[in-house]
Amino acid sequence: MSLEEALSIRETVRSFAPTALTLGQLSQLLWATYGIRDAQQRRTAPSAGALYPLDLYIVVGEKGVEGLEGGVYHYLPMGHALEIIASGDRRKEVAHASLWQMWMAEAPIMMVITAEYRRTTGKYRERGVRYVHMEVGHAGENLFLQCFALGLGAGIVGAFSDDKVADALEVPPQHEPLLIIPVGHPR
Ligand SMILES: Cc1cc2nc3c(=O)[nH]c(=O)nc-3n(C[C@H](O)[C@H](O)[C@H](O)COP(=O)(O)O)c2cc1C
Repeated sequence: MSLEEALSIRETVRSFAPTALTLGQLSQLLWATYGIRDAQQRRTAPSAGALYPLDLYIVVGEKGVEGLEGGVYHYLPMGHALEIIASGDRRKEVAHASLWQMWMAEAPIMMVITAEYRRTTGKYRERGVRYVHMEVGHAGENLFLQCFALGLGAGIVGAFSDDKVADALEVPPQHEPLLIIPVGHPR
C-alpha cells in the first residue's frame, strides 16, 4: 500500500472483531513504532538529541495474539524482543482507567506509549517536555499508519487517569503513560 493510500484510509476505529493478531503482525507494529533502523541504533521515529525518551508497553488480551498469553509486555528495541511485566488480561482495567471507554477492551491488543521525561529534560531542560510530547506523536502516527497498511485498524485514546493506567500496567513509576492505541481487525 502506498503512503498516500494509508493516509487516506486511516481513521479512528472504535469497534474490533475478536480476531487474534499474529506474532508477525505484532512484531511489525513494534518495529514500525519505535524499532531500530540502523547500526547506530537510531529508531523509526525521530528523537531530539537521539535520546529516545519513550517506551512501548503492549496490553495483550486473552487469545489477543497467537502464541502469546494474555498480559502486559514491554518492548525492548535492542534485540527486538518482549519482556513480560504482568500476566493476565488487563484490557478491562485499562478501559476503566480511561473514563470507562469500554470499546477499548474489544481490541485484541492495546499499545501504551510511556515517557521517561528526564532522558530528554536532562539535556534540554524544560523545553525537553515539549520535545517528548512531539515525539509521542511521531511514534503514534508510525503505529497508526503501519496498522492500516497491514489491513488492521487502530483507535487513539488520550482521555485516561495516568495513575490508574500505570497501576493496571505495573510500569515503573518514571514511565508515564501518554497515549493508548487499541489495535485489531476493524469490525
Ligand atoms: C491526542 C488525542 C487524544 C484522543 N483521545 C481520544 C479518546 O480518549 N477517545 C476517543 O474515542 N477518541 C480520541 N481521540 C480520537 C479523535 O476523537 C479523532 O482523531 C477525531 O475525532 C478525528 O477522527 P479520525 O481520527 O477518525 O480522523 C483522540 C485523538 C487525539 C489526537
